[in-house]
Amino acid sequence: MPLAIADIDYLRQVVSSRSGNVLTQEQGYLLESRLSPVAQTAGLKDVVALVAELRKSNASTLHERVSEAMTINETSFFRDMHPFQAMRESILPALIESRKATKQLSIWCAASSCGQEPYSLAILIREHFPQLADWNVRIVGTDLSDEMLAKARLGRYTQFEVGRGLPAKMLINNFLRLGTDWVLKDEVRRLVEFRKMNLTQPWPFMAPADIVFIRNVLIYFDIPTKQSILNRALRVLRPDGYLFVGGSETLLNMNLPIRREAIGATAVYRPNVVVTTPSNSIASNSARGLAAPATASVSRPTSTSTSTLSTFTRKPT
Ligand SMILES: C[S@@+](CC[C@H](N)C(=O)[O-])C[C@H]1O[C@@H](n2cnc3c(N)ncnc32)[C@H](O)[C@@H]1O
Repeated sequence: MPLAIADIDYLRQVVSSRSGNVLTQEQGYLLESRLSPVAQTAGLKDVVALVAELRKSNASTLHERVSEAMTINETSFFRDMHPFQAMRESILPALIESRKATKQLSIWCAASSCGQEPYSLAILIREHFPQLADWNVRIVGTDLSDEMLAKARLGRYTQFEVGRGLPAKMLINNFLRLGTDWVLKDEVRRLVEFRKMNLTQPWPFMAPADIVFIRNVLIYFDIPTKQSILNRALRVLRPDGYLFVGGSETLLNMNLPIRREAIGATAVYRPNVVVTTPSNSIASNSARGLAAPATASVSRPTSTSTSTLSTFTRKPT
């Protein structure tokens, strides 16, 4: 039996209240195909029966499974390439210099799907920055979907998946063949930790990050949700850190305390800073991520390719 308009609207509301993902009415066709397996697993006849079951309560694991099933998980190794080029040629060398005293580097990939994005960063670091071998390098991938997280933790990919974005030499250097699949070597896998995190719900404590990737997920949220997530992400990002969003996700029309910097063929966003003088000296923000209000005091080179959006001020989450 086809879904009634009221059922489609109800499912759209379940999805948006759980994951923030906004489904248009035209995407209603996706509901049947994505939710049939969920209905089947739950022992229900079809999606209509699934809707009837969901309507019995406001919150259940079934609601969660429905919203997870409706997420778009498209990803690939070294997706869009240019951000990784900027990481290799500019950002990592700069951070290695500025963090040489602590020898700590922290990267957060929010909405990491089944792991290709954080693993691309781990591979990049392993292949191009041997000097980081004795550093404490932390790459954390988070996602809403248990299914994606489980696959990410396995680090096992099909020939098709590794064929998308991984040069043959990198594949051989970093993976082992297992039947027709490829499994990441332990030395790559152990650089990355995966955690469940819904960006639209209260966040667990996130340690301060030098780099935040939050790519190709903002497009699924409405503007207030996007704004709120980005504001919170900026509290996790260190004042001299780097924020990447997806190629089609511009932040220029949003009121955020960041500026855009062009690096090669990509753009990165960076917290605004207030330049201090001895008379108005403001204590440097130690970037505790969730720390008390403070103003970032970080020296930075000026660049003609930056555009200031507003001033960076830290607020508690
Ligand atoms: C299109 S993938 C992007 C993956 C990767 N960042 C990339 O650019 O290749 C979007 C991911 O966002 C996740 N996602 C959607 N809504 C989310 C939410 N509210 N909280 C956390 N993750 C979410 C989905 O589960 C999916 O894995």
